Amino acid sequence: MTAFHRGRRLRWTPELRTLVRETPPLLAEDLIMPYFVVETADADFRKEIPSMPGQCQLSLQELENQVARAVDTGLHAVILFGIPATKDEQASGAYAEDGIVQRAVRLLKRRWPSLLVITDVCLCEYMSHGHCGVLMPDGAVLNDATLPLLAKTAVSHAEAGADMVAPSDMMDGRVAAIRQALDDGGLTETPILSYAVKYASAYYGPFRDAAESTPACGDRKSYQMDPANAREALIEALADLDEGADALIVKPAGPYSDILRLVREHVNVPLCAYQVSGEYSLIRAAGLNGWIDERAVMLESLTGLKRAGADMLITYFTETLLKERLVR
Ligand code: PBG
Ligand code: ZN
Repeated sequence: MTAFHRGRRLRWTPELRTLVRETPPLLAEDLIMPYFVVETADADFRKEIPSMPGQCQLSLQELENQVARAVDTGLHAVILFGIPATKDEQASGAYAEDGIVQRAVRLLKRRWPSLLVITDVCLCEYMSHGHCGVLMPDGAVLNDATLPLLAKTAVSHAEAGADMVAPSDMMDGRVAAIRQALDDGGLTETPILSYAVKYASAYYGPFRDAAESTPACGDRKSYQMDPANAREALIEALADLDEGADALIVKPAGPYSDILRLVREHVNVPLCAYQVSGEYSLIRAAGLNGWIDERAVMLESLTGLKRAGADMLITYFTETLLKERLVR
């Protein structure tokens, strides 16, 4: 008989398959759950995001209730996004001492000191025009004028007790500006998880409903990366490391798993994949329609990110995975 490869020998039983499995199972401690917290007088405020079934905008109190349930099922880390009561052209809500994210951080850290609280550092939710930086009348987003505002925001989050700050604005030099400001403020031990490789992606659509941060005019293509570029991801990653980033995010995740792998092969810091709102909504919508096995696709999509090289995952499925005991 002619010799041929019998790959099936190691696939016959579940025991053999787990024995030879290359990518370890998902762990609760690798997962980061995003929350949208709203500045509102209505303590019971909870509003489902139409384009993200199962995800809600939450008042501080509802955030606390929701996190309480998730902590009971093993929640390890969260990333917070704020929706302020008012917006302006300087994003003052982003760095207000009693801003919505600052208050949420204090609340969560007081009740659960060991819950990892990460904050998204950006200005778009707080700017009346919805851009991630200071806007000129001609529509240009200014880089250097934005840096002090980002630095102030990061410092205010860290002072409120954030365990890690995650700048997502894509301005050049922001990691250096934030590191400097944190150090000057005595916050030398606060790590920066940089959204180093962030593409100008249509997959953020549902998030912008959730965070009420759609730009009023134009798009984000002058600061977020061109989806057609891969080599540029390494330039961005290395620049952020040079400026003092402690860990990096690649975003979106699934459609960019080649980028995850590429970055993984060139840097040695922890790497985070952000499975963004549009990735969530696609899986959720098909699941709700009965077109796919949602649980299986959820797990497969995240295993794919781990296999591509991610150490940790930001995913809106975190709560479900924990509640349904789909992770260890
Ligand atoms: C803010 C920010 C965005 C996301 C994370 N931080 C939106 C954007 O850049 O437009 C996207 C997250 C998601 O889609 O789940 N800059
Ligand atoms: Zn932004």
